[in-house]
Amino acid sequence: MKAENPNSLPIGQSREPIPATPEGLLAAVLASNQHTTDPRLKQILESLLRHLHAFADEVQLSYGELEQGIDFLVQVGKATGPEKHEGILLADILGIATLVGLIDAKKALAAGGTEPALIGPFWRAHQPLRPNGSLIASPKTPGDKLLVNGRVLSLDGAPIANARVETWQASPGGLYENQDPSQEDMNLRARFQTDEDGYFSFRSVRPSGYAVPVDGPCGKLLALQKRDIMRPAHLHFIVLAEGYKTLATQIFDADDPNAYRDVVFGAVGSLLRSFEAQEDGTYVLDLELRLEPGTMRMPLCPLP
Ligand SMILES: [Fe+2]
Repeated sequence: MKAENPNSLPIGQSREPIPATPEGLLAAVLASNQHTTDPRLKQILESLLRHLHAFADEVQLSYGELEQGIDFLVQVGKATGPEKHEGILLADILGIATLVGLIDAKKALAAGGTEPALIGPFWRAHQPLRPNGSLIASPKTPGDKLLVNGRVLSLDGAPIANARVETWQASPGGLYENQDPSQEDMNLRARFQTDEDGYFSFRSVRPSGYAVPVDGPCGKLLALQKRDIMRPAHLHFIVLAEGYKTLATQIFDADDPNAYRDVVFGAVGSLLRSFEAQEDGTYVLDLELRLEPGTMRMPLCPLP
């Protein structure tokens, strides 16, 4: 006769001990999830529990190693604050943020939509709204001049007017302004609105690549893995428009020496572009961002 699973019974009615085997334990743990009312949460937890148990069993995890893992997560939490979001950095260096973006964009990509890229830990809320054509670099920002001519379109090529376009980038010194006391507040950050034909534009400086922050537990993990810590030069974008799924992406400088070894795996597909040099020394980036019809969602902003 099949033994009754104690955790499938209402609390207090169990008459069986939990079996002292990995399989019996997993059955009890899964049964404990059976009364989760949110069906999506129930599905996610069930799969997570199965994979967690299978992972621990596969590597024959020791209790000391479990303690190290728990401490690592505690350190990630402690390293997260108004200046830096270590939790997002962790999702990024594990490739999970890129994977989730690709899953979410599967339909759009099949129909010619723009590839997504992770938001990362440096987007700030309340970036200043600026008129199209504005210079977003403060006068003392060094670097080559950059002109970005962008257009927001639907998958069928129709222009999307009044879309909100958020952009942010590192300085040629490889730091975002919130990491760098020498830069002005909100330097190299802005919000634009597309015109009636879907166009937006701004002037800036050509970005440079940078090392991800390595002063926290993610840095220790990268060192243990002997991994590169560089990101290729890029511009971040988030595009929000009523009736369309929100697009978070990045455009990468294909000429950057790290273009093909992004530490956070964000430089996918056609997101690598050449910034075209003009005779006057200005680099130009012409850009189309194609959005999938759907529900607009405001992403979680990592920084105030
Ligand atoms: Fe970035």
